Amino acid sequence: DESVVRRDRFSGGPARSFLSSLEADERIFEADLEVDRAHVVMLAEQGIIADDIAGEILTALDTIEVSGHGSLPEGEDVHEAIETAVIDRVGEDGGKMHTARSRNDEVAACIRYRLREDVLEAIETTLALRESLVEVADAHAETVMPGYTHLQPAQPTTVAHWALSYESAVRRDTARLFGAYERINESPLGAAAFAGTTFDVDRERTAELLGFDGVVENSMDAASSRDFLLETVQALSTHATTLSGLAEDVVVFANRGFVDLADDYSSTSSIMPQKKNPDTLELVRAVAGDAAGAVQGLTTTLKGLPRAYNRDLQRATTHAWETADAVTEASEVAAGAVATADWNEDALATEAGEGFSTATGVADLLAANGLPFRTAHEMVAVAAENGGDYDALEAAAADVLGEPLESFVDPAAVEDALDPSESVASRDSTGGPAPEAVASQLESANAALADD
Ligand code: ARG
Repeated sequence: DESVVRRDRFSGGPARSFLSSLEADERIFEADLEVDRAHVVMLAEQGIIADDIAGEILTALDTIEVSGHGSLPEGEDVHEAIETAVIDRVGEDGGKMHTARSRNDEVAACIRYRLREDVLEAIETTLALRESLVEVADAHAETVMPGYTHLQPAQPTTVAHWALSYESAVRRDTARLFGAYERINESPLGAAAFAGTTFDVDRERTAELLGFDGVVENSMDAASSRDFLLETVQALSTHATTLSGLAEDVVVFANRGFVDLADDYSSTSSIMPQKKNPDTLELVRAVAGDAAGAVQGLTTTLKGLPRAYNRDLQRATTHAWETADAVTEASEVAAGAVATADWNEDALATEAGEGFSTATGVADLLAANGLPFRTAHEMVAVAAENGGDYDALEAAAADVLGEPLESFVDPAAVEDALDPSESVASRDSTGGPAPEAVASQLESANAALADD
């Protein structure tokens, strides 16, 4: 009696719901159907099950797909529930679907199948963000802004140079996600519980049907390893960390009036009528915390797990789904916020020279004219104490060097060095903020975008 067989399959008593991953498995419902289809096709092609039964199972899978995850019968997980639904439709022969496999290789295949899609989506959002940053850089190659270290005015730079600094970092984030994708994209199917199978399965064939690049060869590795999950969550977490820095910068820039976020990416206050707050970017900043937590949670779950399959792995998977969702959304929002923000060029220009941020350029100029850099540094530091303008430099030269400033350097060159735009233009070393150096960074950014 089939119903007895099926009832026996899922017990658990009071621990029933604790054991079950059926709800979380909604994420892999479609993946499981695809994995089932590929497996059944292979079984039939290999002569392991009869063609007509395979056909009936495939038809059943189609009707199960139409009914959706919500109408699955009870089960410990989606794999069991779908199998029960197949048997409900086909009869006892539906149970042939699970020949030569285990839920262990099945679930690993489902996770990999679905995660590919999620990682591709994450990769796409990194590309969109890079496009936003490149657009900003394109529009603001000459928009001078203050650059900071320790959040103190340091040296003038440009909005383009700032934007491309993040584009470069996000480019590496994209590469890390591609790296993870490569190792996700291998099929564990055919490993069975971990120890292989007596049936003449064609693992390459199921891999091919599911669009995997190849198979995870060792069957114990295939069924038990989840380093692909860890690697993915780590790559997502690294991207979230990049995003958090970008978000923090924009929050600070908004605070200083350098940038005006579009209304779509701002919030207001329920009490303070004048408020326009950068909440979206604060949330982007916070997602890095969740992602780092997921890395920690996943690592701790996987640490010390013995071979082969252990049920702990069920709780490893959800970290990946949650992190993929949160980080992809954060990346999308960051891209939108950056693309739609207005840069306040006047405020940026005014602030660019504040705090004697051109001091390094003046010291460089003196050093280029023969003064040891350390001596120039000392002299300009004295000038900084006294206001950091031309007069202060003259006084410092007399004081520290015992010679008039003009005897070391052309006064017009000093005036230039004190000007934030000139200061930026003069820093044309590779990767620097001078417009021509930025132009070549833009070129690399565009080339990499076209490539990715
Ligand atoms: N729901 C399980 C998971 O996510 C599927 C595998 C169950 N396998 C087992 N031997 N109990 O890992």
